[in-house]
Amino acid sequence: MTSEPALDDSHSGVNRGVAPVTYGTGDRPPRGDYADAASDYTCSQRWSRYTPAEHELYRRLHARQAAQLPGLACSAFIRALDQLGSPDAIPDFERLSERLTRATGWSVVAVPGLIPEEAFFSLLAARRFPVTRWLRTADEFDYIVEPDVFHDLFGHVPLLFDPVFADYMQAYGAGGLKASRLGSCEYLARLYWYTVEFGLIEEDQALRAYGAGILSSAGELVHSVRSAEPRRSGFDLRRIMRTRYRIDDYQAQYFVIRSFDELFDATAPDFEPVYREVSALGELQAGEAWPGDRLFGPAGC
Ligand SMILES: [Fe+2]
Repeated sequence: MTSEPALDDSHSGVNRGVAPVTYGTGDRPPRGDYADAASDYTCSQRWSRYTPAEHELYRRLHARQAAQLPGLACSAFIRALDQLGSPDAIPDFERLSERLTRATGWSVVAVPGLIPEEAFFSLLAARRFPVTRWLRTADEFDYIVEPDVFHDLFGHVPLLFDPVFADYMQAYGAGGLKASRLGSCEYLARLYWYTVEFGLIEEDQALRAYGAGILSSAGELVHSVRSAEPRRSGFDLRRIMRTRYRIDDYQAQYFVIRSFDELFDATAPDFEPVYREVSALGELQAGEAWPGDRLFGPAGC
């Protein structure tokens, strides 16, 4: 995910002073080494610098998540997971990109950590997915505030092998560049949050997860699909753009799509009039009842 645009005090093309906000605090510097970042915030993965302990930690993270996927993750994600390469080591982005480019024309590029919104949107619009190069520590095995290489790779990259979802991500990037100009990024961020990060899909009348924030989280995978606590509403673009989200706990609200085609088609029209409409309608809280909702119960109920 992204952060607020940096205050560019150098014009040297090297990122300094990015203030991460999307994942919460916003009052601390971003985690990561930005010294070798290019002007588009991409950098070398430095694959050879990963230690055996880091590869082992990645292997453990991958094994825990992969074991949970059947019955909880969507079929396109499960089908594509092997494309990441060996689960025993952090993938080499260049080799992974060769497979991904052949499949959908996307590639994976390394970034030092959180990057500004405009840079993020520009990369997506060019079918380049930014992946954080650093891995969490062993102490952060269960939870991490900022996205790391495991979240970005395991959570996001498998669905980039799906042609329709891949097109949605590119369209999102192009839409983001326009939203930046219109000052409407908050609405678009909610769409990203409730689809790319925390989206659910109905497959064969069963709920499944496709959002990266769910699929890379041990606890939220079960919570999102099976818990009776959260509110699950059918996909509704305006409803989503009106709905605030929480960043410090499991989601109280999820939105369910019927297919990636529905997602792509619903988000294809120009958002400019939609932003005006949503602005006039006002905000909803996550989990708040809304009479227009088509509700879904937990899987198994
Ligand atoms: Fe993410």
